[in-house]
Amino acid sequence: MIKCISCGKEYSNDEIIYTCTDCGSVLEVICNPDVSKDIFSCRKQTMWKYKEFMPVDETKIVSLEEGGTPFVKCDKLGSELGIDLYVKVEGSNPTGSFKDRGMSIGITKAMELGVSTVGCASTGNTSASLAAYAARAGIRCVVLLPSGKVALGKLAQAMFHGAEVLSIKGNFDEALDAITALALEGQLYLLNSVNPFRLEGQKSIGFEIVDDLGWKSPDRVILPVGNAGNISAIWKGVSEFYEAGFIEDRPMMTGIQAEGACPIVNAYQKGKTEIEAIENPETVATAIRIGAPVSSLKALRAIYDSNGHAETVSDEEILSAQKLLAQKEGIGVEPASAASIAGLMKLVDQGVVDKGEQVVCIVTGHLLKDPNIAINACVEPLEVEADINKLSEIIRR
Ligand code: F0G
Repeated sequence: MIKCISCGKEYSNDEIIYTCTDCGSVLEVICNPDVSKDIFSCRKQTMWKYKEFMPVDETKIVSLEEGGTPFVKCDKLGSELGIDLYVKVEGSNPTGSFKDRGMSIGITKAMELGVSTVGCASTGNTSASLAAYAARAGIRCVVLLPSGKVALGKLAQAMFHGAEVLSIKGNFDEALDAITALALEGQLYLLNSVNPFRLEGQKSIGFEIVDDLGWKSPDRVILPVGNAGNISAIWKGVSEFYEAGFIEDRPMMTGIQAEGACPIVNAYQKGKTEIEAIENPETVATAIRIGAPVSSLKALRAIYDSNGHAETVSDEEILSAQKLLAQKEGIGVEPASAASIAGLMKLVDQGVVDKGEQVVCIVTGHLLKDPNIAINACVEPLEVEADINKLSEIIRR
């Protein structure tokens, strides 16, 4: 069953519906299977390990073996900050971001519904992932991208997997409005995170974290927030396992936004549940350059219900956290992902994160998604002849 999170109106799982027809609010899929967690134990480490919690037809699954991503203990950074730190490396998914979890189930749902065209608006990763999964399923894919604002790696992926890529004169929010209008006309099946089935895949990040910790909840989960689907999804995941009795606590959900694109942080700081959209969002972390997140209501509920937090970070803090994580722990992430680490450092500094807390930072996309940022942050390699004497002279310096 699909249910409106505001008025409770119910819809069947077979309906193509994105927002409530009565009140206009966002929807969620209700999923509470009666199973024991023992059934998961001998299964392959992909998100489909938890297939009983994935409300789609098991015979139609379209998968590239997404999920089961590294859960890396970061003792060097953790001990400097005085916390127990784990990093969940979502860049290790098939197309290099967490979006693959949502697209695997989203395209599975599309196959179930028998649609022939799927589409999305995207700051890059959603389109890269949708293009790959649509290719695997053999269906047509249309993506709208904000012109000139998509990182090169993501653009290359969307084009190379054969999507029809349209560059929109406008930002992500405008592109999303446009693709939503096309979807409501019935021209395509929308696979942005307003589609509640997307979040059913992404909630598996929450499943994996507590499974990896031996069926325990961490104290806190910190992640970057853009369109606000992922924080909502992870909260839904840990809440489903909590309600199933698999874990005894739930983490404080902590969302980080860039200073130039922070409608959710603004609402949180005023104690509100509704956001005021930001007209011209701007940040170096183009993945989260979003002014009117569609899942803001779900995200703010997750933050308030979990006694969590929301904070901003500057572009400088993002870029220096990106470099720190790469050079201290060997984990290469794109700028938006580093917002979680930058946010963690700021919150430790402010005393919001307590000493000794067990914290999981989600790093959402791979370093090579945005190669220009990485290259521009480094000095050009020295050009040298392949001469052993010259080389050893340089290396000894
Ligand atoms: N990190 C990365 C790398 C992203 O690509 C996104 C969103 C987020 C964080 C934020 O997640 O939207 O669920 O709050 N990227 C979308 C896209 C908007 O089109 O690829 P969110």
